[in-house]
Amino acid sequence: MAATIRDVAKLAGVSVATVSRVMNQKGYVNSETEQKVKRAMKQLQFEPNQVARGLAGKRTKTLALILPDISNPFFPGLARGVEDVAKQNGFTVILCNSDDLGVKERSYIEVLKQKYVDGIIFATNNLVQEDVERMEESRIPFVVLDRTPITGAGCVIRVNNADGARAAVQHLLSVGCKKIAHVYGPQELITARERLEGYEAVARTFPWYSPTLQVPGYFTIEGGMQAADELLAKHPDVDGVFAGNDLMAVGVLKSLHKKGIAVPGQVAVCGFDGVNLTQITQPELTTIAQPIYQIGELAAHKLIERINQSSNHHEVIELDVSLIVRDSTSKPMQT
Ligand code: RIB
Repeated sequence: MAATIRDVAKLAGVSVATVSRVMNQKGYVNSETEQKVKRAMKQLQFEPNQVARGLAGKRTKTLALILPDISNPFFPGLARGVEDVAKQNGFTVILCNSDDLGVKERSYIEVLKQKYVDGIIFATNNLVQEDVERMEESRIPFVVLDRTPITGAGCVIRVNNADGARAAVQHLLSVGCKKIAHVYGPQELITARERLEGYEAVARTFPWYSPTLQVPGYFTIEGGMQAADELLAKHPDVDGVFAGNDLMAVGVLKSLHKKGIAVPGQVAVCGFDGVNLTQITQPELTTIAQPIYQIGELAAHKLIERINQSSNHHEVIELDVSLIVRDSTSKPMQT
């Protein structure tokens, strides 16, 4: 637990006011006392800005949002929801991009602790129990979103990925698809794993199912393109593709277009997320939309509530996803 100004005063055998005079270099302190205080601070690894915070007794009115990949349009949409609620409540937001690297995430947590942010929202995949314990020791409330695999602590906000995946496959079947493939995201992410599970739960009930109908797309456009190339080489009769996020679905559309394959006439394509990009592709992309902005809004509301109540009890909130039908699956398949 981080040392407090009272710990320093106790160890040095002086008053809190003396410690603050030493730190602020205001008011008289004899050199012997000053040395005692500084030795105590060094021994307790007490950071200067902790005194400012302790004296002020105020919050810094800042929240932090740690995202895994700011280049993926899903996350700016989420950040917008966080920022709007933070602003309405007088908080500013510090945005951190971890590149989904645990080492970057942990260094951000340390920096944010030293800056005494009032709370942290995680949308990353690397948070581990040790991080949770360090934040709880530092009494930093936190909210985890989406792919963060934390259980048993803080507020968790997620969507039902498997239900959304099942809905995607059922929709492709409903427009006449006879053989449906899945382009899946990185399986170390719970969101990608649950979507694959949802696809398999439906696909396995059909005689056309084969594990080779599932290919990795790494949640990127390039990954979606390569996955489509691989799928059509192995299964030229595939007439439906469910991609585990919209970027991969865009890659699938691009690959099919390059091959002169009609969408949805020959192959229907469905994505997952509901980012704005799906409205400017040609054809416009059918997708399983997450309430992206609302996830960010709710996360900020929940975090500010916990900051104000100094609580960090565990709760899980699961939001619904919705099928948005557009041209990439709109017409009955050519039989
Ligand atoms: O597109 C990025 C993906 O990462 C989204 O599906 C979101 O759920 C996150 O897991």
